[in-house]
Amino acid sequence: MDHFEHRNGRLMAEDVDVAALAEAVGTPFYCYSSATIERHFTVFRDAVAGAGNAPPLVAYAVKANSNQAVIATLARIGAGADVVSLGEMKRALAAGVPAERIVFSGVGKTADEMEAAVQAGVYQINLESLPEAEMLSAVAARMGRTVPVVFRVNPDVDAGTHAKISTGKAENKFGIPIDTTLEAFALAAALPGIEPVGVALHIGSQLTDLAPLEQAFTRVGALIADLRAAGFTVSRADLGGGLGVPYSAHTPGPPLPEAYGAMVARVTAGWDVRLTFEPGRVIVGNAGVLVSRVIRVKTGATTDFVIIDAAMNDLLRPSLYDAWHDIDSVMQTEELMTATVVGPVCETGDTFAEGREIPAVEAGDLVVFRTAGAYGAAMASTYNSRLLTPEVLVKGDKWALVRPRSTIEDLIAQDRVPNWVG
Ligand code: LLP
Repeated sequence: MDHFEHRNGRLMAEDVDVAALAEAVGTPFYCYSSATIERHFTVFRDAVAGAGNAPPLVAYAVKANSNQAVIATLARIGAGADVVSLGEMKRALAAGVPAERIVFSGVGKTADEMEAAVQAGVYQINLESLPEAEMLSAVAARMGRTVPVVFRVNPDVDAGTHAKISTGKAENKFGIPIDTTLEAFALAAALPGIEPVGVALHIGSQLTDLAPLEQAFTRVGALIADLRAAGFTVSRADLGGGLGVPYSAHTPGPPLPEAYGAMVARVTAGWDVRLTFEPGRVIVGNAGVLVSRVIRVKTGATTDFVIIDAAMNDLLRPSLYDAWHDIDSVMQTEELMTATVVGPVCETGDTFAEGREIPAVEAGDLVVFRTAGAYGAAMASTYNSRLLTPEVLVKGDKWALVRPRSTIEDLIAQDRVPNWVG
């Protein structure tokens, strides 16, 4: 459920009129609903609350939407943060997430990032290789600290999602092969500065079926038993993120958090660990839309093109993953048209929908891409020297520009024409 719906024929974001917002901030822009963000977090947290031997840590995956206002909204209601770079860690801390609720993940952490994470005192660092364990050991020991670490294991499970966002198969770069975990624990236990306390996994994103997750978690359960049998202490397990969201009003959606939570509780019963979750998309995906204005409608040789002022640099998912986002008009209409919806960027890949039936629009009309709150603004770029997409957060009948539109002058001013020396 989200808080974007037509009322009296006009799209409302909670109690804010989206067309009026477009007049005020210009297009394109992302619009997020605080009530939806809060609701999704609460639903997820409640769904997993009973699992594990202590209240779980729900660490929002900051990569999904890293706007400070979004992180702060979540921090205020108790969310932790799953971060994968120094930038994300600083964002989480700046938005008010306490270090003891931050998990530092990522396949290529540098020594500088490790030092900053140790310095901040994060809840845990998720390790993805033995050389990484050795590097963190050296960094932490030099600082006179001991950090709780978990090993991210690669369970070799096919998550059944798009290949580019599948992470738990043996050939993927993530984690250590699950059958090498005992060796990894033995090494880590012998090293100064790190204390192995558990295991982690994350098999992919936009999962629409619980079966691969259950299979992976079951493998982790067996692994925990093996680790304990070998004499290691295992007090934590991080089950990652990955739960999908509905991208179309017309196809059945993925399982709800309640079903996910029930499966987790059943599979992890008896593990006797504190669980961590790293949900991203399920928290913010349906809490955001991308609003864009139609520049013009053009008749092509084989199809009509609706050319809008948002492009692949604003919302990359359709170009990169052939992802589907429902397209709706801001002013409700019963009339439909079939068109290919494209942006102004000079690439054929800058296509949002091909030959799709959409509400009839003409030049000057506003359209929205739904389910654009996750991996939308966070993946935006300035390609074609377009400005980074502004972001608006709505709360009831109030709104705030939480990332203003920059200027072309600012963009140009970031470069330096060399004044050669030497
Ligand atoms: N934890 C780890 C270690 C991750 O790598 C990810 C996402 C998450 C948690 C959060 O996963 P979620 O709950 O959001 O599925 N840009 C792609 C998605 C990439 C996901 C990368 N990792 C997209 O637009 O579909």
